[in-house]
Amino acid sequence: MASHPPLSPHDIARALDGLHPDLRILGPDAVAGRHPGEDPTNLAAGVVAQPASTAAAAALISWCRANHVAIVPQGGLSGLVGGGVSRHGDVILSSARLNRVIAIHVDEETVEVEAGVTLEGLQAALAPHGLTTGIDLGSRGSATIGGMVSTNAGGILAFRNGVMRHQILGLEAVLPSGEILSDMTRVVKVSAGPDIKQIFIGGEGAFGFVTRVVMKVEPIRPHRAVALLGVTNAGRALEIAAHLRRHPSLLLEAAEMMWPHYARDHAQLKGFDLSWLEGGASLLLVEISAQSADHATSLLEEELAAIWDAADIKGGIVAQSSEQARRFWDLREDSGFYFSAFPQAPSFDVSLPPTLVDHYVAELAHRLRSIGSGYDAYVYGHIADGNLHIALATPGPLSPNIKHDVEDAVYAGITACGGSFSAEHGVGLDKHRAYLEHADPGKQALARQFKTLLDPDGLFNPGKVPF
Ligand code: LAC
Ligand code: ZN
Repeated sequence: MASHPPLSPHDIARALDGLHPDLRILGPDAVAGRHPGEDPTNLAAGVVAQPASTAAAAALISWCRANHVAIVPQGGLSGLVGGGVSRHGDVILSSARLNRVIAIHVDEETVEVEAGVTLEGLQAALAPHGLTTGIDLGSRGSATIGGMVSTNAGGILAFRNGVMRHQILGLEAVLPSGEILSDMTRVVKVSAGPDIKQIFIGGEGAFGFVTRVVMKVEPIRPHRAVALLGVTNAGRALEIAAHLRRHPSLLLEAAEMMWPHYARDHAQLKGFDLSWLEGGASLLLVEISAQSADHATSLLEEELAAIWDAADIKGGIVAQSSEQARRFWDLREDSGFYFSAFPQAPSFDVSLPPTLVDHYVAELAHRLRSIGSGYDAYVYGHIADGNLHIALATPGPLSPNIKHDVEDAVYAGITACGGSFSAEHGVGLDKHRAYLEHADPGKQALARQFKTLLDPDGLFNPGKVPF
C-alpha cells in the first residue's frame, strides 16, 4: 500500500459518485454534521458509502480493492471497543440503507433480515406476529443486526438462548474480493461440511461485510414481573435464578446483578431510594414471564417468599407498574453514568463460569487495592451467564504502567478458569493487548492465516483485531 498515496476523502467521494445505482455516497460535508456514536473518531474517514443492495456493496468493495482503499464496516455506532473507528483515507461502509425485514416465517419462527435493521426495529416488525428476538440488549435502539453479528453480541437472554452465534441460521456477506458468500440457510440442522459463515460471527468486520442473515425468533411472552432484590453475593443470586428457572409455570427472562459500589452510586445519581436494601448488599434484578400479568406478579412474589430466608435475601421490591419496572431496568442498563463521573475510566467486559464470580470479584478488589488505595471498580452484569462489566471508579488519566496493572488485575485467571477476556463487546481497538496476551496462540495464528487468505491486502477494518 505504501506505493499508493492515500486518496483524500473528497477524491474518494467524487470517484465513488455514480458507481452503482443502489449506492449512496456521503462526502466530507455531509458527514461533518453527523453524530459519531460511541467513539468520537468513528466518522474520521469523512466518506460514508451506504449500499441499499448486496450488489451495490460488492461494487463498492471491488472499487476499494482496485484502488487500495481501506474499508471500515459500520452499523449503529454503539460499539464499545472502537471496532468502528475510521481514519482519513478509509471508506466507511455503512449498513444504514440495508434496512429491510425481508421475510417473517411465522410458523417456522425464523426471520430474514438485512444487516442495517436495528434490534429494536426487528422486534417491532416481529411484534404484530406475536414474535420477538431471542436476544436482547440495552442498546437495542441503535445496535444493528450486522453489528451484533460482527461482535457476536450476547446481552440479557444469553443464559437461556445463547449468543448471536446461536441465533443465526443463515448469513450473506460480501468478501474482501468482492465475491458474495450467500448461505441463507433457513433450517436449524445442517451437517454439510464446515460452517464457514461462522468466521463472520464475531469477525469484527475483518473478513467481509455482512449484508443479511436468517435468525431464529421466538414467541413474545408479554406478561412480565420484575423484582429488585438485595443479595449478599453472586452465589445467592445464582440460587435465586436457579430456583426461578426450575419453576414449571414461569420463565426467567433476566438475572442482572449490580455490586454495591455501582448500585449505591448509580441510585444516588438517579435519586433512586435504596433505603430498604440491608447492609450494603448487592442488587439483583430478576424478570419473569408467566401466563397473565397478574399471575406473573403474584407468582414472583410467592416464589421469592419461598426462598427468601434460604437465599438470605436482604430486602426487595416487586414492581407494581411498568414504570416502576422501567426504573429498575434504568438502574441496570443506563450504565454510562460512570463515564461522566470518571471520564478516563477504562472499562472491561469479561466472562467466567458463574460459580467462580464471587471469588473473582473478591480477588479483583484485592488486586486493585494493591495497585493503590484509591483503586476500585464498578461491577455489574449478566450474572446468570457469568458476564461481568467492570469499570474503574478511579479518577484518571492513568499512566500507561498503571493502566497495564489494572488490565492485569482484571484479566488475572480469566482464561485459566475457562472464561473470556472479552465476553460480548469484541476486541476492536481497545483490547489488543488482552487479545495478544490471552487468546490462545494457536487460535491467533490460524485467525491470521484466515485473514491473509480472505483479505490479502488487509483492507477490511484495518488495525482492529490484531492479526
Ligand atoms: C450492558 C452493556 C454494557 O450490558 O453490555 O449494559
Ligand atoms: Zn452487557
